[in-house]
Amino acid sequence: MTAVATKRSEPEKRTRKRILTGDRPTGPLHLGHYVGTLANRVRLQDQYETFILVADYHMLTTRLDELGEIEQNIREDVLGNLAIGIDPSKTTIYLQSLVPEVTELFLYFAMLVTVPRAERIPTLKEKMREQNIAQPSYGLLGYPILQAADILMVKGDLVPVGKDQQSHIELTREIARTFNETFAPVFPVPEGLIPEVGVLPGTDGQAKMSRSIGNTVNLFDDPKTVEEKVMRMYTDPTRVHPTDPGHVEGNPVFTYHDFFNPNKAEVEELKDRYRKGKVGDVEVKKRLATALNAFLEPVRERRAALLRKSPRIVEDVLREGSERARVEARQTLHEARAAMRLDYFGE
Ligand code: TRP
Repeated sequence: MTAVATKRSEPEKRTRKRILTGDRPTGPLHLGHYVGTLANRVRLQDQYETFILVADYHMLTTRLDELGEIEQNIREDVLGNLAIGIDPSKTTIYLQSLVPEVTELFLYFAMLVTVPRAERIPTLKEKMREQNIAQPSYGLLGYPILQAADILMVKGDLVPVGKDQQSHIELTREIARTFNETFAPVFPVPEGLIPEVGVLPGTDGQAKMSRSIGNTVNLFDDPKTVEEKVMRMYTDPTRVHPTDPGHVEGNPVFTYHDFFNPNKAEVEELKDRYRKGKVGDVEVKKRLATALNAFLEPVRERRAALLRKSPRIVEDVLREGSERARVEARQTLHEARAAMRLDYFGE
């Protein structure tokens, strides 16, 4: 055992804390992703050593009939991250299934979580409802445990996610503590980083943007599509005429203005006139479409520039990133197995 341990080079000293976060490749990234996690990723990538995973294994937990779309969605996800400002020379972007070591950690963690605990996680019921699943598979029940393995595999300290992921962070913390207490202190107890500003509503006024509902504005929607989506947006339902006093609070058109229109004076002026019945919805929406397109234009341009420079950018980034993540994964597994006394025949 000692011989094996000394053969391995010591892990590099960590000078910076780590971020681990990721997306399920369900389709194009949208503004809800931006508010929930992308903005934080971009903001923090210089300060933290950042890992972003594309969670393709997680896609197996629900729609096994949609797997044909995964490859395209992986591409969109990686391009979205790059175009919004993630720099692959600083940040490791990797594909979950190219680091299959995570499934071994998932197995160990599965032994630390009781069935009722897993059943209590609210996203299970949500997923079942959304996807019309009568009985969850064993794999779907394990979804958050796999996510904990993602996070702890690279010893993530901070996990920027949307509010809907809070219960998964809680479980991850419990698993880290239980493992450390039962075996040996291998894992950090990570913190979630959840935006205080809350969740971006859908264009239809529903609580959140979701591809399955079809109420998203995507990062790569063209200007005309953005405008059409905005013009159809749900607004104050109590207002019939532009001269009626309108409601600003809870009105998604203004929520979007608050998030994406950098001209705060314009937003305040519009709100004021709206409350007094002195501006129509059409004008408020036109100005929103302009603000959104101004925000998205550089993102669209970066995507085009990246692909022009290298049509294989997605493959290259994922291959390199997955190799890097795999080094971390092997090291962590080595430590986990040693802690569990599973290293009786070496590694
Ligand atoms: N469950 C996350 C989502 O649906 C995706 C995900 C998988 C993830 N593994 C992760 C997020 C690890 C953060 C950390 O958005």
